[in-house]
Amino acid sequence: MYQGRERRWSGRPNSHLVDVVGALPAGTALDLGCGEGGDAVWLARQGWRVTAVDVSTAALERSAAAVAAAGVTARVEFRRHDLARTFPAGVFDLVSAQFLQSPLDFPRAEVLRAAARAVAPGGRLLVVEHGSVPPWGDPEHRHLRFPTPQETLAGLDLDPDGWHVERLDAPQRQATGPHGETATLVDHLVLLRRR
Ligand SMILES: C[S@@+](CC[C@H](N)C(=O)[O-])C[C@H]1O[C@@H](n2cnc3c(N)ncnc32)[C@H](O)[C@@H]1O
Repeated sequence: MYQGRERRWSGRPNSHLVDVVGALPAGTALDLGCGEGGDAVWLARQGWRVTAVDVSTAALERSAAAVAAAGVTARVEFRRHDLARTFPAGVFDLVSAQFLQSPLDFPRAEVLRAAARAVAPGGRLLVVEHGSVPPWGDPEHRHLRFPTPQETLAGLDLDPDGWHVERLDAPQRQATGPHGETATLVDHLVLLRRR
């Protein structure tokens, strides 16, 4: 996905991450599928100590360049993992999975369960995924049905006494396509706090 392209993503942090995390005190964060580092840069600027993970070496290199350009290298560590096979060690105050989606076979439910296990007591899991296909998306994807936030929560198979559901909703977002066209997109958001 990343090879041979200048930049794939905007470099800006994901808006739902900013909405949710902007109100939280900084701590440790795990960014799963960090892409080109827009979220890692923003989190580090807010004072978080970030572990940023991706399977793509090219993505991690671009993330490292973005973090260096922002002057926050000291607060971001990079780890290359194929999350289908290995998961970073440790627990974190925030585990964030923003559009952690793959065109390849990907054991989404298992990875999200591992993500929940990596949340420290009192910490949060934030999962944001597509809930709609943009008008400029691949026509072959139009038939896709995305898991609802309720289905994602059920798939996590968590002890309800151990977690507080803070958000389970489908917020809208204004997005701009590759040719400058705009659309209102629906995302699926799950925000849980470990007791
Ligand atoms: C749609 S992009 C989202 C990137 C970033 N979170 C964002 O919102 O801009 C999905 C990311 O997940 C990564 N990814 C896909 N499969 C993965 C896997 N098995 N292990 C780790 N990362 C993976 C991709 O390389 C890509 O950077």
